[in-house]
Amino acid sequence: MNAFTSKLSPSITGMIRLDHTHVLANFHKYDPNASANSRQALVDMVCLALEIHTQLEEEIFYPAMQEVASGNEVLNKSVPEHDEVRNLIGQLRSMAPDDASYTSTFMQLMRSVIHHVADEETVLLPEAERLLADRLSELGAAMTKRRLQLAAPHAGELALDTVRTMPASSMLLAAGALLAGGYLVKRSRGRHVRPTL
Ligand SMILES: [Fe+2]
Ligand SMILES: [Fe+2]
Repeated sequence: MNAFTSKLSPSITGMIRLDHTHVLANFHKYDPNASANSRQALVDMVCLALEIHTQLEEEIFYPAMQEVASGNEVLNKSVPEHDEVRNLIGQLRSMAPDDASYTSTFMQLMRSVIHHVADEETVLLPEAERLLADRLSELGAAMTKRRLQLAAPHAGELALDTVRTMPASSMLLAAGALLAGGYLVKRSRGRHVRPTL
């Protein structure tokens, strides 16, 4: 990515806020009475999004903050808080969704993340916008590049989780769209096939 593209990139702080918004919105979709399959799909999706987000912050955002705000109390406890999140993710992955403590462990993850996100949004992000003002787009570009690398091996998994969390009615619509897509691909391929004699 060249310097010009980097300058046009959205800021790293905007991207971090957007990630937080997505994860919090998914937390609110968790229904303890939903089927084990759809609860697990939502939890898997949230866990993967959190893993990628925390890794991006640790590789790109926190080191940049360390250069300008070392000693910041919130910055100092950020990685230990990520460790706590990773620990809860590990516990959830080792449980079946019908395990008695599956929902309460997910709620604990929700509490830890909400507390951590509040600290980032009220302390670290405003500090970054003050102290790293001229680097926000360049860091945003670096984050986008790394995000693509980290998400690529999980593309199929993410698509599957999205379908598993859908209510049956939208699943039918999605299935219809997939079938229609397959039909169109076949038709367009058909046009290039030479008639056999
Ligand atoms: Fe974080
Ligand atoms: Fe964050």
